[in-house]
Amino acid sequence: MLVDSFGRVATDLRVSLTDRCNLRCTYCMPPEGLDWLPKPDLLTAEEITRLVAIGVERLGVTEVRYTGGEPLLRRELVEIVAATTRLDPRPQVSLTTNGIGLARLAAPLAEAGLDRVNVSLDTLDRDVFVRLAHRDRLRDVVDGLAAAERAGLTPVKINTVLMRGINEHEAVPLLRFSLDHGYELRFIEQMPLDAQHGWRREDMVTADEILGLLKDSFDLSEDDPSGRGSAPAELFLVNGGPARVGVIGSVTRPFCGACDRVRLTADGQIRNCLFATEESDLRTALRSGASDEDLASRWIAAVRGKKAGHGIDDPSFLQPSRPMSAIGG
Ligand code: GTP
Ligand code: 5AD
Ligand code: SF4
Repeated sequence: MLVDSFGRVATDLRVSLTDRCNLRCTYCMPPEGLDWLPKPDLLTAEEITRLVAIGVERLGVTEVRYTGGEPLLRRELVEIVAATTRLDPRPQVSLTTNGIGLARLAAPLAEAGLDRVNVSLDTLDRDVFVRLAHRDRLRDVVDGLAAAERAGLTPVKINTVLMRGINEHEAVPLLRFSLDHGYELRFIEQMPLDAQHGWRREDMVTADEILGLLKDSFDLSEDDPSGRGSAPAELFLVNGGPARVGVIGSVTRPFCGACDRVRLTADGQIRNCLFATEESDLRTALRSGASDEDLASRWIAAVRGKKAGHGIDDPSFLQPSRPMSAIGG
């Protein structure tokens, strides 16, 4: 088991398959993009599959989520998913994507056993999309969502980062769109993880503000009064249910105390927290012929040192040097 010194158990593995992306969302990276990881540093599909198998078969991982950058850009994605769903015990397998390319890939991914997808969508307005993501691809995302629903990658969830003065006014239309199509929308507080280090607390639309924006148009009631457990999203029934909307208040309502996550980066580093300032290098060990047992014990040691929480409110808080696009959210 992957247990940290606070007794939290990591059962949810998030694997970044590439740091590249075909969008340039302002809260993530600059319009010109970043210096991508050098190809030889990236884990091969076989190396990824081996590490995921160690996580699932030896270390108690029960959920595997593939992320990026943009994971649909990774050519071997379908094979990686298929290899993951063949593991015993079979983990839950999901994907967090910007949706571009999902129209083509949703069916083969479902065939490979993928259980569900979360798709990022911050606006329904083509001009705002271009301003935010620096690419004219709104249509592709909307088509990707529909294809995911048709392929049964459900519940299809939408992730929306609300930004002051940019897309705040779309909170209500985005929820209407999601209700109309049967998608589960989650609004996310913006976190200090952009490569430009431009995050400012004043620009962040808080969970309280998000709920305020919705309450004029919808009746919201807590879905599970016993709490959200280890899930980032607090869920609310919309107009009595069964449809729900989520709020991910990572900054103002952190869920670190119940965190069950561990991350593997595309270049083979274990990150025990989204905001970790240190990583453990599994790639070098893997490529020097380490046994599964050896890799497992390095992984266990990496999780043991996990900090209590992200510490964004601490005066000594330091944003991690690795940007969101190379962590995978
Ligand atoms: P579900 O299992 O569908 O609920 O997925 P998820 O919400 O855990 O994953 P997703 O990749 O869709 O992430 C949604 C938002 O939650 C993103 O903004 C992530 O960066 C954020 N998030 C995911 N994991 C963590 C975490 O460990 N800590 C914090 N603070 N935020 C996280
Ligand atoms: N703060 C909060 N969420 C972010 N995401 C990307 N960057 C940030 C940030 N700085 C979201 C994306 C995607 C998920 C993986 O994380 O919109 O849905
Ligand atoms: Fe877990 Fe770190 Fe995320 Fe908190 S910030 S929920 S400890 S990964």
